[in-house]
Amino acid sequence: MRVLLVGSGGREHAMADALSKSPLLDQLLIAPGNAGTAELGENVPVAIGDVPGIVALAQGREVDLVIVGPEAPLADGVADDLHSAGIPVFGPTRSAARIESSKNWAKELMARHAIPTAGFAAFRTIEDSVSYINALPEGSVVVKADGLAAGKGVIIAGTRKEANEAVMKMIGDQLFGDAGSTVVIEECMEGPEVSVFAFVDGATVSNEVSACDYKRAHDGDSGPNTGGMGAYTPPEFWTPELAATIRREILEPVAAGMVAEGADFTGILYAGLMLTESGPRVIEFNCRFGDPEAQVVLARLETDLLEIALATANGELDDVDVHWNDQAAVCVVMASGGYPGSYQTGVPITGLSSTPDGVQVYHAGTSTADDGTVITAGGRVLDVVANGADIAKARGTAYDTVSAINFEGAEYRTDIATRAVGSPTV
Ligand code: AMP
Ligand code: GLY
Repeated sequence: MRVLLVGSGGREHAMADALSKSPLLDQLLIAPGNAGTAELGENVPVAIGDVPGIVALAQGREVDLVIVGPEAPLADGVADDLHSAGIPVFGPTRSAARIESSKNWAKELMARHAIPTAGFAAFRTIEDSVSYINALPEGSVVVKADGLAAGKGVIIAGTRKEANEAVMKMIGDQLFGDAGSTVVIEECMEGPEVSVFAFVDGATVSNEVSACDYKRAHDGDSGPNTGGMGAYTPPEFWTPELAATIRREILEPVAAGMVAEGADFTGILYAGLMLTESGPRVIEFNCRFGDPEAQVVLARLETDLLEIALATANGELDDVDVHWNDQAAVCVVMASGGYPGSYQTGVPITGLSSTPDGVQVYHAGTSTADDGTVITAGGRVLDVVANGADIAKARGTAYDTVSAINFEGAEYRTDIATRAVGSPTV
């Protein structure tokens, strides 16, 4: 088969790695890819935002299946356009992608299907938001931009005053552009967070897998929010009972609810959950793999990813037994100095040639200079992923590898997965 994978991050390098192990694969195209994916297939310079370009590429190269990594092209309807062109696609339609692209739509969907989540209300004007906030008891409240804001559209306000300021910024100052023209105001939940993933095709939900990620830039969960600085799987608190509750109360009802509403989901469903005192509740859904969670969970996927993706795209997921093994995996992200603020690119990277067994170094923001040197090309540069019999072993191997890789200004967290090995930190 000829497969087109859309995306250019560490998640897509990890997906390309899993796909390239499939006996079903003849040729892999990646649009636009990075220096890492170039080793596994042919990078084609079509941007992820160029939906007509992606469709034209899939048609022109007679691709048998398109697999979409990031959310933006899905929200822009790339799956719909590919369906119209008769090309199978792993990823939801624009309508189903609203589960991520409109927080308000997702919250109303959850309300209609009794899926546990934080209480909420949505508003389009400052006046309505402010009068709602001022009627709440004093305390924490969460203000979110309705639309896609690259993971930055969430403000946890400690007081009513801060919440009102957040609304002014989103609706008044258009801090997140159109994405913030509707705001969602939510009750603030407390508890450990976990990301849960399952392949979904209509009402069929595969076996699930879970991971924890680290969003803040610096150790001890300090510093600004980022795309994700590391992840590990399985979480130390994960049990079969918890998994069963999440399937029964969240994953299966949301998939069935979407079918009932004519917005069938196809692809990988990502539930961001908080384990509150009253049970697991949804923070948000995403319509794609997490990054860097994909890098760790794919290390545990025993089943052929291409077989799963093809079956999901064809509505035959029911025929595939998706199996995740019991190994542990830890990912440490190496970022450019200054990320998520401004940073330099074009910095040469050394130490990439020898990686120990059980370690994968996925490229996130890299490119290849004219002389063949791998150079930095983004904020998150490399994802060092190690697996092992347990988190402690995987963690040790990941950090040993990180120390052998160098580029000027490299930054990474030193506390990824420490809480899973019993260290008194986050
Ligand atoms: P999101 O972009 O929706 O994943 O939100 C970013 C982060 O904000 C989440 O990972 C949570 O840590 C936090 N968050 C979002 N919604 C809530 C909520 N209702 N209560 C508490 N924390 C939240
Ligand atoms: N790791 C968080 C995300 O992919 O949204």
